[in-house]
Amino acid sequence: METGVRIVGNLAVQLVNLTKRYGRAAAVDAVSLEVLRGEFFSLLGPSGCGKTTTLRLIAGLAEPDAGAVKILGDDVTDVPTNRRNIGMVFQNYALFPHMTVSENISFGLRMHKVGRSEAADRVANVLDLVRLRGTGDRLPRQLSGGQQQRVALARAIVIEPKVLLLDEPLSNLDAKLRKEMQLELRALQRRLGITAVYVTQTISIAGPQIASSPSLSAG
Ligand SMILES: Nc1ncnc2c1ncn2[C@@H]1O[C@H](COP(=O)(O)OP(=O)(O)OP(=O)(O)O)[C@@H](O)[C@H]1O
Ligand SMILES: [Mg+2]
Repeated sequence: METGVRIVGNLAVQLVNLTKRYGRAAAVDAVSLEVLRGEFFSLLGPSGCGKTTTLRLIAGLAEPDAGAVKILGDDVTDVPTNRRNIGMVFQNYALFPHMTVSENISFGLRMHKVGRSEAADRVANVLDLVRLRGTGDRLPRQLSGGQQQRVALARAIVIEPKVLLLDEPLSNLDAKLRKEMQLELRALQRRLGITAVYVTQTISIAGPQIASSPSLSAG
């Protein structure tokens, strides 16, 4: 049987003894976890337990003090963020304030050298998906918090990344919209075969794969 080989080949994200310290405190303390390709992996835990730090380490936005990050089998611990083919929705949105909604969303497409008319189509589609049709010309500050959050989501998914990191991406939405967005997100993730790592403090969206707080530092 070649079971072992098959399993390794199926890993989208692998963290090996990953550690990040700030001063003497470990924000992430020797975390090891494995996320399968196409999996929707929920990372669940209380405030301060290291969820955001873990995502930043996967994305290459923070450098680990020890351990390794592997994406699709490659050790990317020393590979810069822009070469990891990762989409990330930040907890605080981090939209570009001087760019319109459309410019924010198409930014990543320009980086990936997607042509103008295809980019326009993809931006329009993703704006529909997050229920923001007609807001493309506005600036982020002309949107509500929940609308800005959906722009951040649109910006991350429009590039159809191999791995999508989502840090409480629906926290500012009302219950009905949150449910709708959860369903859209799961459908899109399945359809495109994207691997998602989803950080949340609530269990509602958490699927069968849950890394709960004991695996992270108590903070
Ligand atoms: N840049 C930093 N400098 C110093 N300490 C930090 C820094 N970033 C995070 N920390 C600390 O690391 C720990 C983990 O933080 P992190 O942001 O990963 O938590 P979290 O699980 O995302 O929490 P929350 O649910 O509140 O967003 C916390 O104790 C935090 O204060
Ligand atoms: Mg956080």
